[in-house]
Amino acid sequence: MTQAIELTVTQKRPLTPSSVELTLAVPEELQTNFAFKAGQYLTLIQEIDHAEVRRSYSLCSAPSQNTWKVGIKKVSGGTFSTWAHDVLKEGASLSVLAPQGHFIISPSAEDQQHYLGFAAGSGITPIMGMIQEVMALAPLAKFTLVYANQSPEEAMFLEELELLENNHPDRFKMILFYSRASVQNTRFGRIESGTIKHLFQNELAGVTFDQFLLCGPEQMIQTLKEVLPQFGASADRIHDELFFSSAEGALEVKEGQCALTIVLDGESTVLHIDKNTPVLDAVLKHDLDPPYSCQGGVCSSCIAQVTQGQAQMIKNQILTDSEVAEGLVLTCQALAQSDQLTVDYDQA
Ligand code: FES
Repeated sequence: MTQAIELTVTQKRPLTPSSVELTLAVPEELQTNFAFKAGQYLTLIQEIDHAEVRRSYSLCSAPSQNTWKVGIKKVSGGTFSTWAHDVLKEGASLSVLAPQGHFIISPSAEDQQHYLGFAAGSGITPIMGMIQEVMALAPLAKFTLVYANQSPEEAMFLEELELLENNHPDRFKMILFYSRASVQNTRFGRIESGTIKHLFQNELAGVTFDQFLLCGPEQMIQTLKEVLPQFGASADRIHDELFFSSAEGALEVKEGQCALTIVLDGESTVLHIDKNTPVLDAVLKHDLDPPYSCQGGVCSSCIAQVTQGQAQMIKNQILTDSEVAEGLVLTCQALAQSDQLTVDYDQA
Protein backbone atom coordinates (compact mmCIF):
# COMPACT_ATOMS: atom_id res chain seq x y z
CA MET A 1 0.00 0.00 0.00
CA THR A 2 1.65 3.24 -1.11
CA GLN A 3 -1.27 5.52 -0.34
CA ALA A 4 -1.03 7.62 2.81
CA ILE A 5 -3.57 6.98 5.55
CA GLU A 6 -4.68 9.46 8.21
CA LEU A 7 -3.87 8.15 11.70
CA THR A 8 -4.51 9.78 15.06
CA VAL A 9 -1.68 10.43 17.51
CA THR A 10 -3.14 8.95 20.70
CA GLN A 11 -0.11 9.59 22.88
CA LYS A 12 2.93 11.84 22.79
CA ARG A 13 5.39 10.87 25.48
CA PRO A 14 8.68 12.62 26.22
CA LEU A 15 11.55 10.11 26.24
CA THR A 16 14.45 12.51 26.87
CA PRO A 17 14.72 16.32 26.81
CA SER A 18 15.16 16.09 23.03
CA SER A 19 13.05 13.12 21.97
CA VAL A 20 9.44 11.99 22.00
CA GLU A 21 7.54 8.80 21.36
CA LEU A 22 4.32 8.97 19.32
CA THR A 23 1.68 6.27 19.54
CA LEU A 24 -0.52 6.02 16.45
CA ALA A 25 -3.98 4.46 16.43
CA VAL A 26 -4.39 2.07 13.51
CA PRO A 27 -8.07 1.22 12.97
CA GLU A 28 -8.83 -2.50 12.93
CA GLU A 29 -9.71 -2.56 9.24
CA LEU A 30 -6.24 -1.21 8.37
CA GLN A 31 -4.21 -3.43 10.67
CA THR A 32 -3.47 -5.98 7.94
CA ASN A 33 -2.04 -3.24 5.72
CA PHE A 34 -0.09 -1.86 8.64
CA ALA A 35 1.25 -5.26 9.78
CA PHE A 36 5.02 -4.92 10.27
CA LYS A 37 8.19 -6.79 11.13
CA ALA A 38 10.41 -5.74 14.03
CA GLY A 39 12.81 -3.08 12.74
CA GLN A 40 10.64 -1.54 9.99
CA TYR A 41 9.78 2.15 9.76
CA LEU A 42 6.82 4.40 9.02
CA THR A 43 6.92 7.43 6.76
CA LEU A 44 5.07 10.39 8.27
CA ILE A 45 3.81 13.19 6.06
CA GLN A 46 2.90 16.68 7.23
CA GLU A 47 2.48 20.08 5.70
CA ILE A 48 4.82 22.43 7.53
CA ASP A 49 5.18 26.07 6.47
CA HIS A 50 3.16 25.42 3.32
CA ALA A 51 5.38 22.58 2.12
CA GLU A 52 4.83 18.85 2.35
CA VAL A 53 7.52 17.22 4.46
CA ARG A 54 8.05 13.45 4.63
CA ARG A 55 10.28 11.73 7.12
CA SER A 56 10.75 8.08 7.98
CA TYR A 57 10.96 6.97 11.61
CA SER A 58 11.56 3.47 12.90
CA LEU A 59 8.84 1.67 14.77
CA CYS A 60 10.12 1.22 18.32
CA SER A 61 7.27 -1.08 19.33
CA ALA A 62 7.19 -4.81 18.58
CA PRO A 63 4.67 -6.37 16.18
CA SER A 64 3.56 -8.74 18.95
CA GLN A 65 2.45 -5.72 21.01
CA ASN A 66 0.01 -4.74 18.28
CA THR A 67 0.86 -1.08 18.75
CA TRP A 68 2.46 1.40 16.39
CA LYS A 69 4.97 3.67 18.11
CA VAL A 70 7.77 5.75 16.66
CA GLY A 71 10.58 7.50 18.49
CA ILE A 72 11.58 10.93 17.16
CA LYS A 73 14.71 12.74 18.21
CA LYS A 74 14.76 16.47 17.66
CA VAL A 75 17.50 17.24 15.15
CA SER A 76 19.06 20.69 15.08
CA GLY A 77 17.49 22.43 12.06
CA GLY A 78 15.28 19.39 11.38
CA THR A 79 11.93 20.59 10.02
CA PHE A 80 9.83 17.56 10.87
CA SER A 81 11.49 16.53 14.12
CA THR A 82 11.26 20.10 15.47
CA TRP A 83 7.59 20.30 14.51
CA ALA A 84 6.84 16.90 16.09
CA HIS A 85 8.68 17.88 19.23
CA ASP A 86 7.43 21.45 19.66
CA VAL A 87 4.07 21.72 17.86
CA LEU A 88 2.38 18.34 17.39
CA LYS A 89 -0.31 17.59 20.00
CA GLU A 90 -2.02 14.41 21.13
CA GLY A 91 -5.22 13.90 19.16
CA ALA A 92 -3.75 15.35 15.96
CA SER A 93 -3.98 13.49 12.71
CA LEU A 94 -0.94 12.51 10.65
CA SER A 95 -0.65 11.12 7.12
CA VAL A 96 1.29 7.87 7.29
CA LEU A 97 2.55 5.37 4.72
CA ALA A 98 2.41 1.66 5.57
CA PRO A 99 5.50 0.09 7.21
CA GLN A 100 8.55 -0.47 5.01
CA GLY A 101 12.18 -1.46 5.40
CA HIS A 102 14.57 -4.39 5.16
CA PHE A 103 16.33 -4.03 8.53
CA ILE A 104 14.18 -6.69 10.13
CA ILE A 105 14.12 -9.82 12.24
CA SER A 106 11.31 -12.35 12.61
CA PRO A 107 11.94 -14.31 15.82
CA SER A 108 9.80 -17.36 16.57
CA ALA A 109 9.33 -19.91 19.35
CA GLU A 110 12.06 -22.16 17.79
CA ASP A 111 14.60 -19.35 17.48
CA GLN A 112 17.71 -20.18 19.52
CA GLN A 113 19.93 -17.44 18.12
CA HIS A 114 21.99 -14.97 20.09
CA TYR A 115 21.54 -11.50 18.63
CA LEU A 116 24.12 -8.78 19.17
CA GLY A 117 22.83 -5.24 18.63
CA PHE A 118 24.88 -2.05 18.42
CA ALA A 119 22.96 1.23 18.67
CA ALA A 120 24.00 4.84 19.07
CA GLY A 121 21.58 7.63 19.96
CA SER A 122 18.25 7.37 18.16
CA GLY A 123 19.61 4.28 16.39
CA ILE A 124 18.06 2.44 19.31
CA THR A 125 14.53 2.86 17.89
CA PRO A 126 14.36 -0.13 15.49
CA ILE A 127 16.48 -2.24 17.83
CA MET A 128 14.08 -1.47 20.70
CA GLY A 129 11.30 -3.15 18.69
CA MET A 130 13.58 -6.10 17.90
CA ILE A 131 14.58 -6.69 21.53
CA GLN A 132 10.97 -6.63 22.68
CA GLU A 133 9.97 -9.03 19.90
CA VAL A 134 12.75 -11.49 20.78
CA MET A 135 11.85 -11.37 24.48
CA ALA A 136 8.13 -11.86 23.73
CA LEU A 137 8.25 -14.56 21.03
CA ALA A 138 11.55 -16.42 21.27
CA PRO A 139 12.06 -17.83 24.78
CA LEU A 140 15.19 -19.72 23.69
CA ALA A 141 16.86 -16.74 22.01
CA LYS A 142 19.16 -14.18 23.62
CA PHE A 143 19.93 -10.54 22.91
CA THR A 144 22.99 -8.53 23.88
CA LEU A 145 22.82 -4.78 23.29
CA VAL A 146 25.72 -2.36 23.13
CA TYR A 147 24.15 1.10 23.42
CA ALA A 148 26.04 4.41 23.21
CA ASN A 149 24.88 7.90 24.18
CA GLN A 150 26.37 11.12 25.45
CA SER A 151 24.78 10.71 28.88
CA PRO A 152 22.01 8.71 30.63
CA GLU A 153 19.69 11.74 30.27
CA GLU A 154 20.01 11.52 26.49
CA ALA A 155 19.50 7.75 26.28
CA MET A 156 16.09 6.93 24.76
CA PHE A 157 14.19 4.01 26.37
CA LEU A 158 16.78 3.56 29.12
CA GLU A 159 14.21 2.72 31.81
CA GLU A 160 12.36 0.28 29.56
CA LEU A 161 15.63 -1.44 28.66
CA GLU A 162 16.63 -1.73 32.32
CA LEU A 163 13.24 -3.24 33.06
CA LEU A 164 13.69 -5.77 30.26
CA GLU A 165 17.11 -6.64 31.66
CA ASN A 166 15.59 -7.21 35.11
CA ASN A 167 12.76 -9.30 33.69
CA HIS A 168 15.01 -11.44 31.46
CA PRO A 169 18.38 -11.60 33.24
CA ASP A 170 19.44 -14.79 31.40
CA ARG A 171 18.39 -13.59 27.96
CA PHE A 172 18.93 -9.86 27.74
CA LYS A 173 22.14 -8.06 28.61
CA MET A 174 22.99 -4.43 28.04
CA ILE A 175 26.41 -2.77 27.81
CA LEU A 176 26.18 1.01 28.02
CA PHE A 177 28.66 3.56 26.73
CA TYR A 178 28.57 7.27 27.62
CA SER A 179 30.85 9.76 25.90
CA ARG A 180 30.22 12.71 28.24
CA ALA A 181 29.36 11.14 31.59
CA SER A 182 31.12 8.81 33.97
CA VAL A 183 28.52 6.43 35.33
CA GLN A 184 29.11 3.40 37.51
CA ASN A 185 28.89 0.02 35.73
CA THR A 186 28.99 1.67 32.30
CA ARG A 187 31.84 2.42 29.92
CA PHE A 188 33.19 5.82 29.10
CA GLY A 189 33.64 6.46 25.39
CA ARG A 190 32.08 5.58 22.05
CA ILE A 191 31.51 2.52 19.93
CA GLU A 192 34.77 2.61 17.98
CA SER A 193 37.45 0.20 16.90
CA GLY A 194 39.37 0.04 20.19
CA THR A 195 36.31 -0.27 22.43
CA ILE A 196 34.73 -2.96 20.25
CA LYS A 197 37.91 -5.05 20.26
CA HIS A 198 38.20 -4.61 24.01
CA LEU A 199 34.64 -5.88 24.47
CA PHE A 200 35.26 -9.00 22.38
CA GLN A 201 38.52 -9.71 24.20
CA ASN A 202 36.94 -9.31 27.64
CA GLU A 203 33.23 -9.14 28.40
CA LEU A 204 32.10 -10.88 25.21
CA ALA A 205 35.03 -13.30 25.01
CA GLY A 206 33.90 -16.84 24.26
CA VAL A 207 30.31 -15.83 23.45
CA THR A 208 29.05 -16.92 20.02
CA PHE A 209 26.67 -14.55 18.27
CA ASP A 210 24.47 -15.50 15.35
CA GLN A 211 23.17 -12.17 14.04
CA PHE A 212 24.67 -8.69 14.24
CA LEU A 213 22.29 -5.72 14.12
CA LEU A 214 23.78 -2.24 13.70
CA CYS A 215 21.95 1.06 13.79
CA GLY A 216 23.51 4.48 14.15
CA PRO A 217 25.69 6.99 12.35
CA GLU A 218 27.71 6.12 9.28
CA GLN A 219 31.08 6.12 11.01
CA MET A 220 29.93 3.65 13.67
CA ILE A 221 28.49 1.28 11.07
CA GLN A 222 31.60 1.42 8.90
CA THR A 223 33.83 0.71 11.87
CA LEU A 224 31.70 -2.22 13.01
CA LYS A 225 31.68 -3.69 9.50
CA GLU A 226 35.47 -3.60 9.53
CA VAL A 227 35.95 -4.95 13.03
CA LEU A 228 33.18 -7.55 13.47
CA PRO A 229 34.56 -9.98 10.84
CA GLN A 230 37.74 -10.20 12.94
CA PHE A 231 35.56 -11.72 15.65
CA GLY A 232 33.72 -14.27 13.54
CA ALA A 233 30.90 -12.25 11.98
CA SER A 234 30.38 -13.14 8.32
CA ALA A 235 28.95 -10.43 6.06
CA ASP A 236 25.63 -12.25 5.58
CA ARG A 237 24.98 -12.08 9.34
CA ILE A 238 25.66 -8.35 9.67
CA HIS A 239 22.54 -6.23 9.12
CA ASP A 240 22.51 -2.47 9.38
CA GLU A 241 20.37 0.62 9.18
CA LEU A 242 22.07 3.91 8.61
CA PHE A 243 20.88 6.85 10.67
CA PHE A 244 22.02 10.41 10.11
CA SER A 245 24.43 9.77 7.25
CA SER A 246 27.00 12.36 6.37
CA ALA A 247 27.01 13.56 2.80
CA GLU A 248 29.66 11.90 0.70
CA GLY A 249 32.58 14.23 0.20
CA ALA A 250 33.48 12.93 -3.25
CA LEU A 251 30.41 14.40 -4.93
CA GLU A 252 31.03 17.46 -7.02
CA VAL A 253 27.99 19.76 -6.88
CA LYS A 254 27.78 21.54 -10.24
CA GLU A 255 26.46 25.03 -10.81
CA GLY A 256 24.06 26.04 -13.57
CA GLN A 257 20.96 24.65 -15.19
CA CYS A 258 20.06 21.27 -16.63
CA ALA A 259 17.31 20.34 -19.07
CA LEU A 260 15.78 17.39 -17.24
CA THR A 261 13.41 15.06 -19.05
CA ILE A 262 11.24 12.99 -16.73
CA VAL A 263 9.55 9.87 -18.05
CA LEU A 264 6.72 8.89 -15.75
CA ASP A 265 3.60 6.80 -16.43
CA GLY A 266 4.37 6.82 -20.16
CA GLU A 267 4.62 10.61 -20.43
CA SER A 268 7.72 12.78 -20.90
CA THR A 269 8.02 16.19 -19.26
CA VAL A 270 10.95 18.57 -19.71
CA LEU A 271 11.95 20.68 -16.70
CA HIS A 272 14.72 23.23 -16.37
CA ILE A 273 16.31 22.69 -12.98
CA ASP A 274 19.32 23.86 -10.97
CA LYS A 275 22.04 21.25 -10.96
CA ASN A 276 22.37 21.59 -7.20
CA THR A 277 18.71 20.57 -6.63
CA PRO A 278 17.99 16.86 -6.19
CA VAL A 279 15.98 15.48 -9.11
CA LEU A 280 13.08 14.38 -6.89
CA ASP A 281 12.74 17.86 -5.30
CA ALA A 282 12.59 19.42 -8.76
CA VAL A 283 10.03 16.89 -9.97
CA LEU A 284 7.77 17.43 -6.94
CA LYS A 285 7.87 21.20 -7.42
CA HIS A 286 6.40 20.70 -10.88
CA ASP A 287 3.36 18.80 -9.62
CA LEU A 288 4.33 15.45 -11.06
CA ASP A 289 3.54 12.36 -9.02
CA PRO A 290 6.68 10.22 -8.79
CA PRO A 291 7.02 7.35 -6.29
CA TYR A 292 8.88 8.38 -3.13
CA SER A 293 8.74 8.03 0.59
CA CYS A 294 11.59 8.93 2.96
CA GLN A 295 13.38 11.63 0.89
CA GLY A 296 16.48 10.59 2.79
CA GLY A 297 18.11 7.90 0.67
CA VAL A 298 16.83 5.15 2.95
CA CYS A 299 13.73 3.53 1.51
CA SER A 300 14.57 3.04 -2.20
CA SER A 301 11.04 3.87 -3.38
CA CYS A 302 12.27 6.77 -5.60
CA ILE A 303 14.53 4.67 -7.86
CA ALA A 304 14.65 5.61 -11.53
CA GLN A 305 16.83 4.88 -14.56
CA VAL A 306 19.10 7.49 -16.11
CA THR A 307 18.81 6.96 -19.87
CA GLN A 308 20.70 10.05 -21.03
CA GLY A 309 23.30 12.30 -19.38
CA GLN A 310 24.88 11.90 -15.95
CA ALA A 311 23.65 12.17 -12.37
CA GLN A 312 25.45 11.48 -9.11
CA MET A 313 23.99 10.66 -5.73
CA ILE A 314 24.69 12.68 -2.59
CA LYS A 315 24.56 9.42 -0.65
CA ASN A 316 23.72 5.87 -1.54
CA GLN A 317 23.57 2.97 0.87
CA ILE A 318 21.03 1.00 -1.15
CA LEU A 319 22.02 0.54 -4.78
CA THR A 320 24.88 -1.84 -5.56
CA ASP A 321 27.87 -0.76 -7.65
CA SER A 322 26.54 -2.71 -10.62
CA GLU A 323 23.08 -1.10 -10.31
CA VAL A 324 24.73 2.33 -10.25
CA ALA A 325 26.83 1.33 -13.28
CA GLU A 326 23.60 0.37 -15.07
CA GLY A 327 22.32 3.90 -14.49
CA LEU A 328 19.92 3.42 -11.58
CA VAL A 329 19.66 6.33 -9.16
CA LEU A 330 17.81 7.27 -6.00
CA THR A 331 16.18 10.40 -7.35
CA CYS A 332 15.91 11.99 -3.90
CA GLN A 333 19.73 11.93 -3.80
CA ALA A 334 20.52 12.50 -7.48
CA LEU A 335 22.09 15.73 -8.71
CA ALA A 336 22.48 16.45 -12.43
CA GLN A 337 26.09 16.43 -13.61
CA SER A 338 25.35 17.18 -17.27
CA ASP A 339 23.45 19.91 -19.14
CA GLN A 340 20.89 17.38 -20.33
CA LEU A 341 19.55 14.50 -18.26
CA THR A 342 16.77 11.99 -18.83
CA VAL A 343 15.41 10.08 -15.85
CA ASP A 344 12.91 7.30 -16.50
CA TYR A 345 10.79 6.11 -13.58
CA ASP A 346 8.96 3.58 -15.74
CA GLN A 347 12.11 1.58 -16.54
CA ALA A 348 13.33 1.19 -12.95
S1 FES B 1 12.60 8.62 -1.27
FE1 FES B 1 13.49 7.09 0.00
S2 FES B 1 15.38 6.64 -0.97
FE2 FES B 1 14.56 8.29 -2.12
